[in-house]
Amino acid sequence: MSRVLVTGGLGFIGSTIVDACVDRGDNVISVDDLSTGKEKYGNPKALNHRVDISDAIVLEKVFEAERPEIIFHTAALARIQPSFENPERYFAVNAVGTKNVLAAAKKYGVKRIVYSASSSAYGEQDASSLTEDMKLGAQAAHPYGSTKRMGEMLMRDMGKATGGPETVCLRYFNVYGPRQSTTAEGPYATVIGIFLDQRRQGKPLSVVPDGNQRRDFTAVDDVVRANLLASLSPKVGNGEIINIGTGRNYSIWEVAALILGLPLGTSSEELLTSGKCIMTPPRRGEVQETLADITRAKTLLAWEPEVSFPDGISRLRS
Ligand SMILES: NC(=O)c1ccc[n+]([C@@H]2O[C@H](COP(=O)([O-])OP(=O)(O)OC[C@H]3O[C@@H](n4cnc5c(N)ncnc54)[C@H](O)[C@@H]3O)[C@@H](O)[C@H]2O)c1
Repeated sequence: MSRVLVTGGLGFIGSTIVDACVDRGDNVISVDDLSTGKEKYGNPKALNHRVDISDAIVLEKVFEAERPEIIFHTAALARIQPSFENPERYFAVNAVGTKNVLAAAKKYGVKRIVYSASSSAYGEQDASSLTEDMKLGAQAAHPYGSTKRMGEMLMRDMGKATGGPETVCLRYFNVYGPRQSTTAEGPYATVIGIFLDQRRQGKPLSVVPDGNQRRDFTAVDDVVRANLLASLSPKVGNGEIINIGTGRNYSIWEVAALILGLPLGTSSEELLTSGKCIMTPPRRGEVQETLADITRAKTLLAWEPEVSFPDGISRLRS
């Protein structure tokens, strides 16, 4: 049993981590400013502090009072499109907020931080299978991707090597699951949340051009299991970056077909002419393909995904 602090503990992924930690018997504290998180996701056995991680002084008080041993750092502004409108706030939360978490962790002797990193750090790459050691250059095409990348660098530079906590960075590839954002909560839901809502309402599914973009979609339960393993593995702690994906990807047309309950091979022409799908205007920051190489996760965490994408979608449809 550990004293665990989950930042962003009322969000989609953070609240699912809170539940898993409560289930394994941890003493769980959450920190969330409710900017996108929801009170209804709060676990009654966990204590939530309504705190903004970009406020270092208030955050430090939580560490002083609670003395956590392990941190799952999921709090962030987590969407690409709004980051173009407010890059300053993205920097304040995702970069400075992460620095604040690391500084407080060092001061109060936290053992390890597991950081929720993002595959968007890769940006557009020529190689289709993304490996952690590949050169990133300047490809991160939006403030969200660059500020999440800054978080990884802070985990390395303010971690064990400079007297701070052990750190490990999990680069998630498109996470989906029961608490993902929906269109009812605003315009920035992710594709699976949007498609499920549209299907429920009997509306056509809106496809961002050209629909042949491919994404490696990862079930939230697999992501949570990776977090728990990363909090315990003796093979990590020095700021390692580890892909958390499935090693298989699907086009947006294939996602639409699965959500509509049609065969995976249903063509884009069929989906458009039948009126089941429509095209939306293009948008900035879309990469053509993501596909995780998960060798490192297998080696360092003994982690492999357990939920196939078709199974995960069929659970969400029912
Ligand atoms: N969902 C994905 O596909 C995905 C992919 C890659 C990485 N990630 C990362 O995973 C983490 C969780 O993402 P999510 O999809 O659950 O998003 P989410 O928006 O549901 O969760 C983020 C949580 O952080 C909280 N938060 C935001 N700013 C805060 C602040 N200043 N102080 C305190 N709390 C704050 C929000 O209220 C929310 O509860 C993020 O770090 C995100 O970058 C997510």
